[in-house]
Amino acid sequence: MKYSGEPLVVLENVNKYFGDLHVLKDIDLAVGRGEVVVVIGPSGGGKSTLCRTINRLETIDSGKITLDGLPLPQEGRALARLRSEVGMVFQSFNLFAHKTILQNVTLGPVKVRKVPKAQAEQEAMALLERVGIASQAGKYPAQLSGGQQQRAAIARALAMRPKLMLFDEPTSALDPEMVAEVLEVMTDLAREGMTMIVVTHEMGFARSAARRVVFMADGQIVEESTPEEFFTEPRTERARDFLSKILRH
Ligand SMILES: Nc1ncnc2c1ncn2[C@@H]1O[C@H](COP(=O)(O)OP(=O)(O)OP(=O)(O)O)[C@@H](O)[C@H]1O
Ligand SMILES: [Mg+2]
Repeated sequence: MKYSGEPLVVLENVNKYFGDLHVLKDIDLAVGRGEVVVVIGPSGGGKSTLCRTINRLETIDSGKITLDGLPLPQEGRALARLRSEVGMVFQSFNLFAHKTILQNVTLGPVKVRKVPKAQAEQEAMALLERVGIASQAGKYPAQLSGGQQQRAAIARALAMRPKLMLFDEPTSALDPEMVAEVLEVMTDLAREGMTMIVVTHEMGFARSAARRVVFMADGQIVEESTPEEFFTEPRTERARDFLSKILRH
């Protein structure tokens, strides 16, 4: 959880509209190397949009985003490289259904990083081992549980050797008994020093892995604090109201 030096990701004064809807309002956020930031907040607040702007799945209307000191590329090769440097894991696992788990994990390294197939397979097996599903390598996604599929999706993202991992509600589509196995993989990753931005309402994860909680509502960062502070003494009415709702259910 320690981090140092220049921040890896910096958003300055970022604004984003969908038509008339102002979905990101003057967002300022810097994420240090090795830092884990949990983003939390009500539905429609802009959490997914924020993640998507960081790997440029969405463009921004004004402001600036840098990764490793460089502005996000607009297009072409540089953009492809950015996508490989920023791993993303979604709520829906987004694995290729007609490819085995091993093929899902080796595809990017072979195609984008030009890693020889045998080496890619070796690395993929090590990653599958790390997320606890090496025995499932030859199966197709539909033959795996949701938790196993999500761990495969994490392994696939890691295979690109990303500098940053974005997680957008990675456990919210999972049955409760599978949530823990995915959070455990994420907690290990955090401990190993991966820089992570994680949209989640899992307070246990936030408390054990995050250095900072960012509370977003209506396109703004309303509150930023340590997990401990945020969950025990939220400063704003908005955050208190949100927490009372998620704690109740
Ligand atoms: N492609 C799009 N076109 C138009 N509006 C969009 C688009 N994507 C998101 N929005 C709108 O932008 C706002 C922010 O959406 P976003 O998905 O970022 O919120 P969120 O905080 O991730 O919500 P949730 O907790 O429900 O996932 C919402 O009002 C949403 O309806
Ligand atoms: Mg979302």
